[in-house]
Amino acid sequence: MSYLSPALVRKGLELTLKSLKLDYIDLFLIHWPTGLKLSEGVLFPKDASGNLLYSDVDFCETWTVECHPYLNQSKLLKYCKSNNIVLVGYSPLGSSPDPKWFNPNNPILLNDPELRKIGEKHNKTAAQVALRYQIQRDVVIIPKSFNPGRMKQNKEIFDFQLTDEEMKAIDGINKNCRYVIVKQLIDHPKYPFHEEY
Ligand code: A2P
Repeated sequence: MSYLSPALVRKGLELTLKSLKLDYIDLFLIHWPTGLKLSEGVLFPKDASGNLLYSDVDFCETWTVECHPYLNQSKLLKYCKSNNIVLVGYSPLGSSPDPKWFNPNNPILLNDPELRKIGEKHNKTAAQVALRYQIQRDVVIIPKSFNPGRMKQNKEIFDFQLTDEEMKAIDGINKNCRYVIVKQLIDHPKYPFHEEY
């Protein structure tokens, strides 16, 4: 959570370039941007009513949000696809139950009966089905594991295909349920999750 304010973003980028020993990078990910002007209004992400979500971001190639079958972001994904933005999903497995950010009232994604049932048909785990679902709807995913066996499992998702019915069934388990709520920032004026996305 540093170099986020408008005056510091460029400095953050320059420091990144310096440590990478590069003159440019193709993509600079800003975690929770709070203000930046790169060029004159190329693209402004808006909410469903047309209001600007981040009035201070003006060029957006990827949009990173929490995304998994219980928060499938279907509206935002549609918006991104029609604006050539790649949606990147964090916590694609429903996150880890860290009390710092995890919402303990939510059901556990990987215990979902539908994901398990579909997994059994393909001889895959619920986690692999949750990841494969995203690949098939063109969402880039960043699954995290500290366990070598599960890291391997998370790569083995390119040797099976979910049917249209299975994709629809997984769409149907969406609960708009957000795991990563970062409770310590809820009162911040720019807390992003009062918005739907
Ligand atoms: P672990 O590191 O012990 O494998 P997310 O990517 O949604 O943030 O989820 C990360 C959490 O999911 C971690 O707690 C991780 O635990 C767990 N995890 C990662 N891969 C799998 C998997 N294939 N099956 C079950 N849990 C997994």
